[in-house]
Amino acid sequence: MSHGNHHPTHGAEHRAAHRVAVVAGLRTPFLRSGGDFKDLSAVDLGALVVNELVARSGIPVKEFDGLIFGQVIPAPLSSLIGREVVLRTELPRTLPAHTTSRACATSIQAATEAADQIALGHASAVIAGGAESLSDAPIFASRPLAQALVALSRARSLPDKAKVIATLKLKDITPVPPALKEPTTGLTMGESAQKMAWENGISRAAQDEFAWQSHLKAAEAWKSGRFSDEVMAVEVPPRFAKIAREDNNIRAETTLDALGQLKPVFDKRYGTITAGNSSPLTDGAAALILMSEEKARALGLTPLGYIRSYAYAATDPGDQLLQGPAYAAPVALDRAGLKLGDMDIVEMHEAFAAQVLSNLQAFASRKFAEEKLGRAHPLGEIDPARLNVNGGSIPLGHPFGATGARMITQALRELRRRKGAHALLTVCAAGGLGAAVVLDGAEA
Ligand SMILES: CC(C)(COP(=O)(O)OP(=O)(O)OC[C@H]1O[C@@H](n2cnc3c(N)ncnc32)[C@H](O)[C@@H]1OP(=O)(O)O)[C@@H](O)C(=O)NCCC(=O)NCCS
Repeated sequence: MSHGNHHPTHGAEHRAAHRVAVVAGLRTPFLRSGGDFKDLSAVDLGALVVNELVARSGIPVKEFDGLIFGQVIPAPLSSLIGREVVLRTELPRTLPAHTTSRACATSIQAATEAADQIALGHASAVIAGGAESLSDAPIFASRPLAQALVALSRARSLPDKAKVIATLKLKDITPVPPALKEPTTGLTMGESAQKMAWENGISRAAQDEFAWQSHLKAAEAWKSGRFSDEVMAVEVPPRFAKIAREDNNIRAETTLDALGQLKPVFDKRYGTITAGNSSPLTDGAAALILMSEEKARALGLTPLGYIRSYAYAATDPGDQLLQGPAYAAPVALDRAGLKLGDMDIVEMHEAFAAQVLSNLQAFASRKFAEEKLGRAHPLGEIDPARLNVNGGSIPLGHPFGATGARMITQALRELRRRKGAHALLTVCAAGGLGAAVVLDGAEA
């Protein structure tokens, strides 16, 4: 495996010509799939958030050079979400756009692509983000049914058509829902996380405690108004009479006892992962405006903060699928010329409590550093008081394509509140991928 030592590392002196500012960020509420957003596609959600973000920013639309957007579960009828979003907003139809994907790190990917374009001087203002509608996931025909449909379209006579239909069994007609399965291992995300919980000795109690705390922090963030400027209201179709204003998966009233009663999902007998300590299936969208620092200044905008460095890494999906953050974070920190201890806050995507706790364990492990990263020293421990201080994906939800952009806005706004200098963000993703970003606060 090639990690850590093999990545080129850059100190601050090598930073690119243009410093990349994040000037604004916004998201829709994150709603449980099958609920109030069920009639909105990912493109619809993306267009809603981009339109609102641009309008709120007051930036003239002619200032933008591009838009980069992603969704993880592909929509067969609108495969180029980036461009479709542009075409459904007030942005000029001449604005180039593209679609990007890095599984659950998709809108981190969109943001870092935008940052690269700006750093290189190829663009000076780019919108980046992502959306997901797991309510609108494509349902596939089984292989025999798909083949029969093709054969039917070619059959000339009624008896020929009847022959084709006669080949089908009842089970062939059943639609196939998309599986969150890792193609090379055949294990779902949840099963892979359960495997990590066992291999790393993460107890059920520790997972439930982590999930519980995250719910309390997210509930408190909403209560104290910390999310009100970063989440837009959405009128709910088809009647538009109801307005979705807040995330609807947060359970302020959850108790450790209630979490402890839930049945394990991915290994029903001996497992420790439950609906309560997993992120739920969610619909939503999030977007950012990135600009060169000069352009932000010229337009009279005050940046929320800056993208300082980033890194992507990968591990063998058959090993510990969701351990990617522990591989990516040291590289991003090296590239930033900073240490874990310099971070005022850390935002870690919570796919499952077992995954976060496994990542934290690897961050602090000398054995992991030596054996997996080829480094003499572990990154270190993260102070719990700095981790996911306003809750994470377990209570907030996880619309795959939107989570990264949600995290960047949430982290930068929190840095501003704390007058903090730096934040580390990490996201684990399918394929054994990991993403890490180091952000500078506006005052850094
Ligand atoms: C885990 C998962 C299968 C659970 O799905 P689900 O069964 O539809 O979940 P529900 O929300 O219906 O919850 C099941 C039960 O737990 C209860 N529950 C969930 N969270 C709870 C909490 N925090 N406190 C108390 N009860 C809770 C629900 O009320 C529900 O109870 P009920 O059956 O009495 O109604 C689903 O969320 C999932 O697949 N998550 C993982 C997604 C994933 O793999 N993402 C990729 C990772 S990057």
